[in-house]
Amino acid sequence: MQVKYLGHSSFYVEVNETKIIFDPFIRPNSLAKDIDFENLKADFIFVSHGHEDHIADLIDLAKNTKAKVVCNWEIHAWLQRNGISNTHPMNIGGEWTFNFGKIKMVTALHTSSFPDGTYAGNPVGFLFDTNDKKFYYAGDTGLTLDMKLIPLWLKLDYAFLPIGNNFTMNVKDAILCSDFIECNNIIGMHYDTFGYIVIDHSASVTAFTNSNKNLYLLDIGEEKSF
Ligand code: NI
Ligand code: MN
Repeated sequence: MQVKYLGHSSFYVEVNETKIIFDPFIRPNSLAKDIDFENLKADFIFVSHGHEDHIADLIDLAKNTKAKVVCNWEIHAWLQRNGISNTHPMNIGGEWTFNFGKIKMVTALHTSSFPDGTYAGNPVGFLFDTNDKKFYYAGDTGLTLDMKLIPLWLKLDYAFLPIGNNFTMNVKDAILCSDFIECNNIIGMHYDTFGYIVIDHSASVTAFTNSNKNLYLLDIGEEKSF
């Protein structure tokens, strides 16, 4: 699995030669100014919820890449109304097998609305069961006991977890989450973008190390194989 950090909760992930982008919020993010948005490639875009800091670039990215957007029903319907027809709606608990692997849509404990305040359905996370790596993309979420279900479904290699506090889990709860999901390799997201979610990188990594876990904090634009 090849991962490139696009800033905030946005990642480019390549599995089984399939190009996937998560929660595109790139052009409005001054920390991600060196990402070449116009030349991003994707076969799929996965969207966790309707908040601006997750979908600001969704419509343009979907148009540029012609990627299939996988999201909940309400975001699917909003995309259709906005001229994006290549979508795959799912809802929580559902699974679907794509060419690169099997996806399960899972709960996220958060809120969701579109930037204009209209209803965007419930926020979600995704489990990826691929024959490359098995991973969890949590979206925006607080810690919830629902996460204890995840190891009953999938033996994870990696998890993308929000760690920035204030709007989502903090580092302490992400470590508990890592226990709940039985996965010790965590890729951090949703930190540093705004004043509310600035974290101390070395203290965060040390907290994970002290719990015998790995926290990966990628630089924006950095690419890494996992
Ligand atoms: Ni949010
Ligand atoms: Mn967010």
